[in-house]
Amino acid sequence: MASLAPVHLFSHGSTMMLGEPSEAADYWKRAGDEALAAGVKGIIMMGAHWDANGDRIEVATNPKPEKSPVAYVHPSKYADYPLKPDLPTAQRCINLLQGAGFDASGNDKFDWIHDTYLVLIRMFPDPATCPPTTLISMNARFDPHYHVKVGAALRPLRKEGYLIIGSGGAVHNLYRNRWLPMLRYSDNFAQESPPEPWALEFRQAVEDVLTRNSGPQLRRAATRLMKHAMYRDAHATDDHFMAVLFVAGAAGDEEDTGVSGKLMAETWELTNMCNSQFTFGGWPATAKVA
Ligand SMILES: [Fe+2]
Repeated sequence: MASLAPVHLFSHGSTMMLGEPSEAADYWKRAGDEALAAGVKGIIMMGAHWDANGDRIEVATNPKPEKSPVAYVHPSKYADYPLKPDLPTAQRCINLLQGAGFDASGNDKFDWIHDTYLVLIRMFPDPATCPPTTLISMNARFDPHYHVKVGAALRPLRKEGYLIIGSGGAVHNLYRNRWLPMLRYSDNFAQESPPEPWALEFRQAVEDVLTRNSGPQLRRAATRLMKHAMYRDAHATDDHFMAVLFVAGAAGDEEDTGVSGKLMAETWELTNMCNSQFTFGGWPATAKVA
């Protein structure tokens, strides 16, 4: 079997995950270090803040994207970080998606949002080391099977050393977070009370599905999570869950059977938001990816 780059599911949490240290951020850095040591060819990422309407899916092709501002974080932590759009790989992604039947096209106007560059800054704090990056939109119908298929269509790029990342959230319901300590004291990690039962329940369901399934079973189990009794409590909107499906598509081929996800780090924020970090597979231990 060809060497495969790993796949990450990162729960990016609130914007303050860029400004404050955390276990999750430490893991993002470690994941970046490991990617660089392995000679990562590029990053291919689906976030949670960009969706295309109708049947469409888009790939970022803006050669000089701006950054949307990051609330509650000083601009010095991100404003000067250079973004590195990977236009040749973007075109390859468009071709792969079109080949899989998607209505895929480039978007040369899209400016990047913190769901993706927050993670890149944490993974590669030295901007000179940040690999060229390709961003993939979601589709605004938030169909789980559609997003699994997107991940599956791009999976072959893992064999070339591309690192596929889904940036979303395990438990991410902004309407049920407790914002007061953040608004009053800039403390996003205050846990004045334990997470509520629905948050704990769904967080456990995500861990169970991702760490106890592999291959096509992973894909099926991940899609079923949207029917979980606590899903709508954990995700008031579907946008931050699509990364789970994208990752299941990229890491859930027959060839991936036996490679389940591993929960590598976790940071609770705002009482009820669970920022779980999962990784499927690992870099080849022997040599850089060809
Ligand atoms: Fe987000």
